[in-house]
This record gives sequence, C-alpha cells and structure tokens, in this order.
Amino acid sequence: MERKGIILAGGRGTRLYPVTEAVSKQLIPVFDKPMIYYPLSVLFLSGIREIAVISTPQHIPIFKELLGDGSRFGAHFEYIVQPSPDGLAQAYILAEQFLNGAASALILGDNIFFGHQLPKMLINANSEEARCTVFCSQVSDPERFGIIEIGQGNQIISIEEKPKLPKSNFAITGLYFLDHNAVEISKSVEPSLRGEYEITNVLQHYVAEKKLDANLLKRGFAWFDTGTHSSLLRASNFIETMQTQQGLMVACLEEIAFNNGWVTTDALHMAAKKYSKSNYGVYLESLLSAV
Ligand code: DAU
Repeated sequence: MERKGIILAGGRGTRLYPVTEAVSKQLIPVFDKPMIYYPLSVLFLSGIREIAVISTPQHIPIFKELLGDGSRFGAHFEYIVQPSPDGLAQAYILAEQFLNGAASALILGDNIFFGHQLPKMLINANSEEARCTVFCSQVSDPERFGIIEIGQGNQIISIEEKPKLPKSNFAITGLYFLDHNAVEISKSVEPSLRGEYEITNVLQHYVAEKKLDANLLKRGFAWFDTGTHSSLLRASNFIETMQTQQGLMVACLEEIAFNNGWVTTDALHMAAKKYSKSNYGVYLESLLSAV
C-alpha cells in the first residue's frame, strides 16, 4: 500500500498575532505563495499524492477553495477538521479512516525545506513502508524544538521536547515518515502536562523499538519553522533570494506535478492562463516554452 500524506495546518497561530487573528497561519504568504504550498511541495517531491489536509473548522472551507480536490495536480486531497488544537499526534487519530492502514508522511503546515538533493532524500525516506525517518536540522535555539540524542549509524537514542538542557543542537523538523502503527501508538499516548498529545511521545515508541532513523540535514540546507514574525520574514527573504538568483521557483506545485508525470502540459497551460497577471503565471508560461 502506498504511503499517504498528512498536512497539519491548524492551530490558532497565536504566536503570529495579530497577523493570524483573522486568517489561517498556513494561508499567509511566504514571499509569493501561500505557506501551505511549501509543505505540500515536499509531499509531492516525495512522490506522495494522496493527501489529507487537517485544519480548524473555520479554515477548512478556505483550504478547499484554494486547493480543491487535488485533481488539477493529478493528486487527491481530502479535508479533515481538527476541532481544537490538542497536539500534533492527534493528526494520526483524526486521519485514521483516511490512512486506512497505510504508512504516512506527516508534515507541519508551517515547515519549509530547501536544499541540494532534497527530492532524493525524500524519495529514499518514502521508499519502504516500514522505514521510519525524521529529518533533523542543526539549530542555534534548541530549547524551542524537539531535540534528539544520536547514536551510531544515525539511530536516535532519545528525544526531548523543548528541553531546558538540550543533549544536542539537532532539532526534529516537522516532517515525519512513520509506518502504519502510528495511529495505534497515538491512541495510546496520554496528554502531556500542557494538555497536548505530543508527537514526541509517539516518536519515543519508535525510538524504544530502535526503529527511528534520523536524516541529518547538512550544512547549506535550509529549514524554516515559520512560527514567529522574524522567522517568517527570514523565510520570505530566503525564497525571494533563491528564486531571483536562480530563476527557479521553490514549491511551484504545478511544476512538480508535471515533472512527476501526474499532469500533462494542458494543466500547465490552464494554470499559466489563470495566473497570467502574476509572476507565478509568467513562470509557468516559461516552463511551457521550455517543453
Ligand atoms: O517545527 C518543528 C517542531 O514542531 C518540532 O521540533 C517539535 O518537536 C514539535 O512539537 C513542533 O513544535 P512547535 O512548537 O513548532 O509546534 P506548534 O505547537 O507550534 O505546532 C506546529 C504547527 O502545527 C503549527 O503550524 C500549528 C499546527 N498545529 C499545532 C497543534 C498543536 C495544529 O494544526 N494542530 C495542533 O493541535
């Protein structure tokens, strides 16, 4: 059974108030496209096109309007309501029916990845259903993240959520390739002291079984958790710089779908026409002339 994707795009976005007071965090722009395009592009690059978007009751209709049923990308999207933001592990419980026994790749709706050979790493993580991988990146502020202690052969020895005395500078990013057991494990997790179903507790089960691999993102790799005003601006500036420098767009969903062979040039034509007044449309047009 093919691995399915989940994007957790809910939460109240309170750390970005007042920006997110009236709009979903994952719908605000990171430079030239809605934030959710970036995690969605990561799933596409992994080769995953059956995807559930989880968000608040209030924002699900807007995501539906933006992304539709996925058919224009040759993909299939479903939408699941998270009544209240009770923790990341809840994503697996809410997606139980959608997953229907499949392994999954969960990505947080505010995570952005960019770097050399990213598609290769993603395809590798997605290659076997039983393989469980988290992507980890070095950070200067480890107290803000889930932090790993690493042993031989990149196997994780321990994980601590937002530790006061971090055992390393390697943070677990918001991208989790887990096997089909994630749903059952999540059901067994008790809420933490802050009242949330913590993803870290789910991951600890895999660590105890020596089943969780860390894919360490090397120097030169960019990962953003756009959870604060400053990191949001940094991410926007980064995307603008990379795109302007290289003339290549980051997270252009139509381009990835086309390169994956999921859609024909007709889909590119349609999108290029729809967005013709913006640089996004101009970029799609340039892809067409290169085909
Ligand atoms: O970004 C990586 C980090 O993400 C990891 O290092 C941590 O281990 C992990 O717990 C998580 O930490 P955060 O503090 O960034 O999680 P936060 O509560 O900010 O939630 C991340 C995103 O998920 C955010 O866009 C809101 C959304 N969310 C969050 C919760 C708790 C939901 O959609 N539903 C939820 O119930």
